Amino acid sequence: MPVDRATFRELAGAFPSGVTIVTTVDERGAPRGLTTQAFIGLSTEPPLVLVSLDRASRTLAVLRRSRRFVVNVLKGGSEDLSTRFATKADDKFDGVPWIPSTVAGGAPILVDAVNAFMECTVADVIERGDHVVFIGSVDGGRVVGGPPLLYYRRTYASWPEEKPAPSVL
Ligand SMILES: Cc1cc2nc3c(=O)[nH]c(=O)nc-3n(C[C@H](O)[C@H](O)[C@H](O)COP(=O)(O)O)c2cc1C
Repeated sequence: MPVDRATFRELAGAFPSGVTIVTTVDERGAPRGLTTQAFIGLSTEPPLVLVSLDRASRTLAVLRRSRRFVVNVLKGGSEDLSTRFATKADDKFDGVPWIPSTVAGGAPILVDAVNAFMECTVADVIERGDHVVFIGSVDGGRVVGGPPLLYYRRTYASWPEEKPAPSVL
């Protein structure tokens, strides 16, 4: 007998993670995207990632059609952007600097908010429960660096600034 919804949410929420914004573009070239925690670096050979979108997501239908997306790994201090992209607002991208990924069909790279990004092509779509899993081939990307944004039990935190290693000389 499966656990109830509240118990499951509490259990799943006990897993700390980074935060990503998955972006794509609609058929008119308009940017679309949402905050996601459900991200996995799935395979090294070939390079694959996995993201999981709620069936209620408005970005879902756009991604099914575009089959291209960017996983924007958020840097520390991006809480407000994460909160904004966790809404259903039509103007999520207003005032947010982004450049189109030439590798991922024009999907937005959120240049000022990322410590890394991955440019992906949908390789597989798996329908499970109330979510749709997208497996993406990683066709490009870059590590920008800096501390990441973290999320745990509905609270944000930033990874501590890396201290330089002590000199052994
Ligand atoms: C930290 C955090 C992580 C989230 N992770 C996911 C996720 O992995 N998948 C998902 O579908 N929604 C996730 N959400 C919720 C979506 O961001 C939210 O439902 C959003 O409104 C969807 O936007 P859309 O309907 O425009 O696509 C998350 C929200 C937050 C705050």
